[in-house]
Amino acid sequence: MENKKVGIIGVGNVGSTLAYSLASKGICSSIVLKDIRENIVQAMALDISQAANSESSHTKVSAAKSGEDLKDCEVIVITAGIPRKPGMSRDDLLLTNAKIMTSVLEDIKKYAPNSKLIIVSNPLDAMVYTAIKSTGFPREQVIGMAGILDSARMAHFVYEKLGYGAGQIECSVMGGHGDDMVPLPNYSTVAGVNLSTLLSSDDIEDIVTKTKNGGLQIVKLLETGSAYYAPAHSTSLMVESILHNKKKIYPCSVMLDGEYGYENVVGGVPVMLGSNGVEKIMELKLDATQKDLFKNSINSVKELINTLDEKFFV
Ligand code: LAC
Repeated sequence: MENKKVGIIGVGNVGSTLAYSLASKGICSSIVLKDIRENIVQAMALDISQAANSESSHTKVSAAKSGEDLKDCEVIVITAGIPRKPGMSRDDLLLTNAKIMTSVLEDIKKYAPNSKLIIVSNPLDAMVYTAIKSTGFPREQVIGMAGILDSARMAHFVYEKLGYGAGQIECSVMGGHGDDMVPLPNYSTVAGVNLSTLLSSDDIEDIVTKTKNGGLQIVKLLETGSAYYAPAHSTSLMVESILHNKKKIYPCSVMLDGEYGYENVVGGVPVMLGSNGVEKIMELKLDATQKDLFKNSINSVKELINTLDEKFFV
């Protein structure tokens, strides 16, 4: 395979699961892992290499010794950040993770200024804003992983109701990655058939509610952290589309510049991902209710961005 290097910064549950998934599928030629916990990252690099090589993958997995090891990465995934702990406000998490994000970005600006960034850290949309604002990278280069995960959750809940169609269920979720995300049943299909012809409106309503609570449901059950298999899988699809210029369309969190009537705010919308990062933003026709829900969701992101502008980017 030609030289296709991926960096993963923050090697917790999502980062390590992602590395394992990319390495075992042989999607890239090399993966460099970076984390402040140096021994853990070395252990992960060895463990994942040993698993992947025995599956005949030629992907090389290594631990970064310094930021310089990020050189030549085409894609860098950032999962670094802390989860919300008891007693912490949303703003505390926001400002702490913004600080972690900016320190990580220093190395990227220096050693991999042309890499495409996939942001996974929460609060997701605000972290995409932080990354764009503190690097000055064009918006095409900085993409948040959220809608693709929320859509996968929605597809799962559709499958639970139907009992068939796995792999053929395409769901669409827009807006910020928060409680007021906007699942779009009328843009969701099973092998091309609209959900409304297969399920009752009560069932669809239930799917929408479950989708919005999908992340929280897992956080409550795990008690010590949040979901990682589906987030890692969703991220791997984005990495693959960018690295191999597949031009797939997925809902991702991007800086809006007039699309849907918003600018200078980040939100989840369907985008085309190719070797240039975001290559196209699709504008779906929303009805009046959906427009209101989208506005509400964007306004929640805006509040976080205002806090960043007032307390962080001063
Ligand atoms: C989730 C959280 C972690 O959706 O954002 O799983």
